[in-house]
Amino acid sequence: MDNQQFDLFGPAFKANPYPTYAAMRQAQPLCQRDAANGKSIWFVTRYADVAAILRDSTRFVKNVQNTMTADERAALPPVPPLIGLLSNHMLNLDAPDHTRLRTLVNKAFTATVVNQMAGRIQTRADQLLDKVQARGAMDLINEYAYPLPIHVIAELLGVPTRDQHRFRQWSDVFVTPSVNIHRQTKKYLKTKRLMEDFTAYFRQIFADRRQQPQADLITSLLQAEEQGDKLSEEELFSMMILLIVAGHETVVDLISNGIFALLQQPAVLTQLQHQPEQLDAAIEEMVRYDGPVERATMRFAAQDIEMNGHLIRRGDAVSLVLAAADRDPEQFDAPDTFDPARHNNRHLGFGLGIHYCLGASLGRLEGRIAISTLLRRLPNLRLAAPAETLKWRTVPILRGLQQMPVVWDR
Ligand code: HEM
Repeated sequence: MDNQQFDLFGPAFKANPYPTYAAMRQAQPLCQRDAANGKSIWFVTRYADVAAILRDSTRFVKNVQNTMTADERAALPPVPPLIGLLSNHMLNLDAPDHTRLRTLVNKAFTATVVNQMAGRIQTRADQLLDKVQARGAMDLINEYAYPLPIHVIAELLGVPTRDQHRFRQWSDVFVTPSVNIHRQTKKYLKTKRLMEDFTAYFRQIFADRRQQPQADLITSLLQAEEQGDKLSEEELFSMMILLIVAGHETVVDLISNGIFALLQQPAVLTQLQHQPEQLDAAIEEMVRYDGPVERATMRFAAQDIEMNGHLIRRGDAVSLVLAAADRDPEQFDAPDTFDPARHNNRHLGFGLGIHYCLGASLGRLEGRIAISTLLRRLPNLRLAAPAETLKWRTVPILRGLQQMPVVWDR
């Protein structure tokens, strides 16, 4: 038992979690902590263990109800309808529901379909830089890394782009650790209000699309819903929030963490400016070295499981630390070095197994266009504040800066 020996939540940890993760991987690669419900939560930091658990979707499940006996399930308090509307998505479900939901949207995310969006993503990236170029300074997150992917996912879903600013608040609620739904705290009431706002907004969009179908993902999902057994109303709302959140939060962090890494290694940055063909490999290295998803979403043990001399009990939660696995020296040479030419870079930054990132092709494309456009158009790009003064977001599973002031030569 770890007895909270490692601080996994404070601001100092968030600023640089890698030394703590290295110490955990060395001393307690399966690190057990007490969870609030009387069970344990296990933090897993070795590449081999993380990869094995990601692949094992039978014994490590996403839906905690699949770890319970029929009696335990019957004793659960009812789920408030609002929560049901937002949490019935593929990343919270196991086969066969997971398979059914993923199949409905898979076609929209294949590399071929996604590559057809390149021209529009490029136009949007250029428009954003047109607005700031002459100024010689911007907050890279608010003025570039955030508005780009939110525009892309809004367009893909078929949501009016003028409403994009509302996505951010909804998304913040969704990635913040869950509030206690049985206590009427201020935070709970704010969350509830935003969730109601979100569902009312999408109810209207669905009504509009039913009247006037368009060539977008929402219309095709509504058609699936009408066929009856393919998609329930709860699953439709949950799909929206998942695609909005997973489809932009991560890309914001890929662009900003990637640029942050490059700005601290000017030689690598110059090399990429001269050899843009290396950018694809560099993007993979950005996802490995300081990737957007620090820890995978929670899995639960469906049965008692023996692992490396430990007993993970049925119902225990398992947090897979992707950021630690991707710096495991057993898997990567010089893991703490950012090497854009790294060979055989089989990182876990997009996950693995049945929940492998649905949007990996889209995320890579957006990252490549965003970063190459910045490097091409903003000469002598540099941070406008010392790196160590920048603040990191406190969301436990994601890794990204709150703001990133940059300047360049006009
Ligand atoms: C570049 C940025 C991205 C990174 C690093 C990333 C990373 C990940 C990771 C690690 C997972 C697995 C989580 C787990 O197993 O707990 C995941 C799942 C997912 N991602 Fe991404 N993602 C990115 C971009 C996107 C985009 C652009 C979309 C578009 C909608 C997207 C949609 C999804 C969805 C729907 C899932 C759940 C898949 C399932 O449960 O089968 N992601 N992503």
